[in-house]
Amino acid sequence: MTREGGERQVHEEKGRRIVFFPCPLQGHMNPMLQLATLLHSKGFSITIIHTQFNSPNPSNFPNFSFEPISDGIQETSTKDFMALLIALNIRCEAPFRDCLARILSENKRDSIVCIISDAIMHFTQAVANHLKLPRIVLRPSPPSCFIAFANFPLLRQKGYLPIKDPQSKVPVSELPPLRVKDIPTIDTKNSSEEFDQLIPHMISETLASSGLILNSLDYLERTSLTQIQQDFSIPTFPVGPLHKYSPGSSNSLLTQDPSCIAWLDNQVHGSVIYVSFGSLADMEKQELVETAWGLANSDQPFLWVIRPGSVGGLDCVELPEGFEEKTRGRGCVVKWAPQQEVLAHPAVGGFWTHCGWNSTLESICEGVPMLCWPSFGDQRVNARYLSHVWRVGLELENGLERGEIERAIRRLMVEKEGEEMRKRVKVLKENAESSIRKGGSSQESLERLVDYILSF
Ligand code: UDX
Repeated sequence: MTREGGERQVHEEKGRRIVFFPCPLQGHMNPMLQLATLLHSKGFSITIIHTQFNSPNPSNFPNFSFEPISDGIQETSTKDFMALLIALNIRCEAPFRDCLARILSENKRDSIVCIISDAIMHFTQAVANHLKLPRIVLRPSPPSCFIAFANFPLLRQKGYLPIKDPQSKVPVSELPPLRVKDIPTIDTKNSSEEFDQLIPHMISETLASSGLILNSLDYLERTSLTQIQQDFSIPTFPVGPLHKYSPGSSNSLLTQDPSCIAWLDNQVHGSVIYVSFGSLADMEKQELVETAWGLANSDQPFLWVIRPGSVGGLDCVELPEGFEEKTRGRGCVVKWAPQQEVLAHPAVGGFWTHCGWNSTLESICEGVPMLCWPSFGDQRVNARYLSHVWRVGLELENGLERGEIERAIRRLMVEKEGEEMRKRVKVLKENAESSIRKGGSSQESLERLVDYILSF
């Protein structure tokens, strides 16, 4: 081990190799590849074992080795992603084990020091045990959500689960500041059984692993991080925000439309509301109509991402008649945007988001306040923290209705309330920036992580 520029660095020639196994969904893949890039910069060799479904693009990561495994997934969409995750956990086990065993037998000099896999790919723990390799888990959503998931048996026992009224604002006294509507459940297409099957495995196999890496930071989530350390005896490494270490390590599964940046260049500073609901959330056709008229009537410039398949499962959607005429010159609609670049653009003054954890962190790191419309899972917890704890977001609590949307956009973009949120989010941004600088909490966690991996 050497120190370069005051930072820990592994000797390249030792050839310590880490094998990563990402979950093939955009919001999971991004932080995993960002972490791989970061650990590569610390001198580790990197192998990415990945599914053929949603496979990463090797040419974006010329220094990594890529090993595809067969996953038997026929369906090419993520419409029923819970069923997809369950299928992946079953079908990938044998190919993953065989691939890993082969790499181990081929790389005597270049020994594998550990596996880092996504928490939701829980089968990797059994494979790691079988091959006597340590496994460290990356959980791409926040510690507060991990705690909520781990407490599902208690919530069931106390009668909160299954949720009877999804709009209930009754506080969950066992998990402050959450209310019943903030409990991170996922309504699957068929039943909640799939979810009930996946989450307990995700928690138990994470707790059976050698460590937990979180894409979060002490300043944002000290209470939850302390609680994880107290309640679960597992080494924990909050190293986020990961995307700030390696902004170049892009792995967009959809083609990003750069034309929106040129459009933003012509807009007034801080005037544009950016609207995007991530890679999985969807809406009904009528909700699209309400969204469109809410944006149109707000009189604010907007950049709106309508991902193919995100409205009623349709590849192509029609916006309501008269919408284009009413918004001509102040609206830009794209299928997929270079989101980090968009949020960093000076014209953007607010982000209407589904509160996916990557989107949440990306917005905080650019000092952009949010309009929150959570859809499922951790997004509900994130929206609660954004609006109630950090107070940098405004939650649309009563579904999508044009009048409410219009008022909420104005409150965020032009009223004093939005200005106050903008000031608070700037403080979070500064703290996020200092956390990854030398001596910062995330930087120190990262150094602990490197030492920990080297101790195996
Ligand atoms: C999912 C879950 O929904 C989320 O809550 C969880 O924390 C991670 O997995 P997703 O819904 O896709 O992710 O949301 P999010 O976490 O925000 O990730 C989306 C990623 O896609 C972000 O990194 C964002 O920058 C990127 N993106 C989004 C684009 O590059 N272009 C877009 O137009 C929209």
